Amino acid sequence: MQTFRDRTAVITGAASGIGLELARRAAAEGMNLVLADIEGDKLAEAAAGLGVPEGRLTTQRVDVSQEQEIQGLADAAFARFGGVHLLCNNAGIGMNRVTWEHTTADWEWVLGVNLMSVVHGIRHFLPRMLEQAEGGHVVNTASVAGLLSTPGMAAYNVSKHGVVTLSETLYTELQELKANVGVSLLCPAWVPTGIHQSDRNRQARFGPKQTASGISARYEERMAKAIHSGRLTAADMANAVFDAVAADRFYVIPHRKINHAIQLRMEDILNLRNPTPL
Ligand SMILES: NC(=O)c1ccc[n+]([C@@H]2O[C@H](COP(=O)([O-])OP(=O)(O)OC[C@H]3O[C@@H](n4cnc5c(N)ncnc54)[C@H](O)[C@@H]3O)[C@@H](O)[C@H]2O)c1
Repeated sequence: MQTFRDRTAVITGAASGIGLELARRAAAEGMNLVLADIEGDKLAEAAAGLGVPEGRLTTQRVDVSQEQEIQGLADAAFARFGGVHLLCNNAGIGMNRVTWEHTTADWEWVLGVNLMSVVHGIRHFLPRMLEQAEGGHVVNTASVAGLLSTPGMAAYNVSKHGVVTLSETLYTELQELKANVGVSLLCPAWVPTGIHQSDRNRQARFGPKQTASGISARYEERMAKAIHSGRLTAADMANAVFDAVAADRFYVIPHRKINHAIQLRMEDILNLRNPTPL
């Protein structure tokens, strides 16, 4: 996808972090914006700061884990702007626990927000994007956690491995079809954002998160430190995404230092070697 000006971008998780920077870059490219987030007030405030001309931006409070809310977002976006050209399935949450201390509600929360949201996005936007003459591009935000198996985050890892294989499958299907819709997969490592405070958005239906102790608490601390110390910024992620979309590149892995860990995992598998600790 080479033309951004006057095309329409839909971005989930746009109130904060990587989603907000994707919105900022899309605005700078002269796109129409449809921004969604579960934090409605924060989203409205963030959107107001983007300086997008009136009539070119809408915001919608959406819980991406709810299929009918994503369907509503798609209906509203196509009705308002007549097409959707860049779909960024970006909203997500983080959670740290040793594997056996994730509750069933924890699993449902993480898989619902991080994985089923992408399933819903593809189901409700892609058929309409395939029909439009201009085509378009889908960007799914996974993580390097979708390429590795870092301890202390089993539900998150499973959700992001799911986004990786879902995106790879979709890519090959669209290639076979010679479709005019591209796919890119963003896999960041540590980026300083609000991800380590994801509990703020845990929906009431999942009940309160239980306080971590022992090894799970240490994993939480380690994650918060790693996020804070991330060298690349959310704006770097957004710029890498737009470069990849323009070049029709699938894998977007801006933290190149992680390649070693990815290679080790692949070699473990190919050599039938037990997983090397990260
Ligand atoms: N920050 C990192 O180090 C990092 C690394 C790898 C992947 N990611 C991924 O990047 C994406 C963006 O996260 P971020 O780092 O910008 O964090 P963030 O917390 O700053 O932003 C995430 C946004 O998603 C929204 N959100 C949460 N639950 C939602 C729901 N149910 N419905 C709609 N919106 C919801 C939040 O309100 C927030 O605005 C996520 O998918 C995350 O997994 C982040």
